[in-house]
Amino acid sequence: MKSVILVSFLLLTYGKVSICLRVVGISVPSLKQRGESVTMTCDYDLEGGKLYSVKWYRDNEEFYRYMPRLRPQQHAHKLDGVKVDLEKSSARRVHLRDLTLKSRGLYRCEVSEEAPSFHSAQSEAFMEVYYFSRENPIISGHEQTYALEEPLDVNCSSAKAFPAPELQWYINGKKVIERDLLIAYGTRPVSQGLLISTLGIRAPAKPKMKITCVSSLGNHKRERSAVIETSSSGEHAAKYSFIILTSIVNIAMQKIS
Ligand SMILES: *[C@@H]1O[C@H](CO)[C@@H](O)[C@H](O)[C@H]1NC(C)=O
Repeated sequence: MKSVILVSFLLLTYGKVSICLRVVGISVPSLKQRGESVTMTCDYDLEGGKLYSVKWYRDNEEFYRYMPRLRPQQHAHKLDGVKVDLEKSSARRVHLRDLTLKSRGLYRCEVSEEAPSFHSAQSEAFMEVYYFSRENPIISGHEQTYALEEPLDVNCSSAKAFPAPELQWYINGKKVIERDLLIAYGTRPVSQGLLISTLGIRAPAKPKMKITCVSSLGNHKRERSAVIETSSSGEHAAKYSFIILTSIVNIAMQKIS
């Protein structure tokens, strides 16, 4: 008899845990652009309990809480990259404005029930913030004239971005996949946590050679093309014979004078 009472007691107190408060889901976009705003939602089911608080954290630092018994009911804490719009935030959502690269992180909502249970439940999701400017990548080293088959000394550098954009070279519309024709210079940090990627191309110069560099980040792409000037071997011969001719003339003139 004693054990039956104990079991019923346990079921009543702890069995309830499984059917009471639970966070059904958190909705945080996985990727947003710098400057944008975002609404994150926290969906929970109180199963008859009373809401005590909803707290939001980024990387374990609290930035917003909603407590229905308090006046005012909501409060935002200062956190770099997190600008809460209180008008658009409430018990099940938080609205952030003007995202910066510092807004990226692991977002968590934590829901608690009132006394006596004080049960709480939570859920979390990561948000990445990117920046990809409208500027096209820059090609350098294409201004000079190359002799036929002379390896190019050309670079492509992306505009400032975060995370680092991927670069890809094309010759006359065909993707360059040969690794020995490419030189990966990697990325270098610039201001505001942004990065610039650089990729060199050393393919042999050909007549009518159009090179294109494509910089991409996610689904976004920017590109720039350049045409390589080649001096044909005929032109070379003409140039050399002109040099030889002027040298001969010079020598002849010196002999005469
Ligand atoms: C290509 O980039 C590398 C690394 O930044 C640099 O050392 C080299 O001078 C560049 N070449 C050209 C043609 O711009």
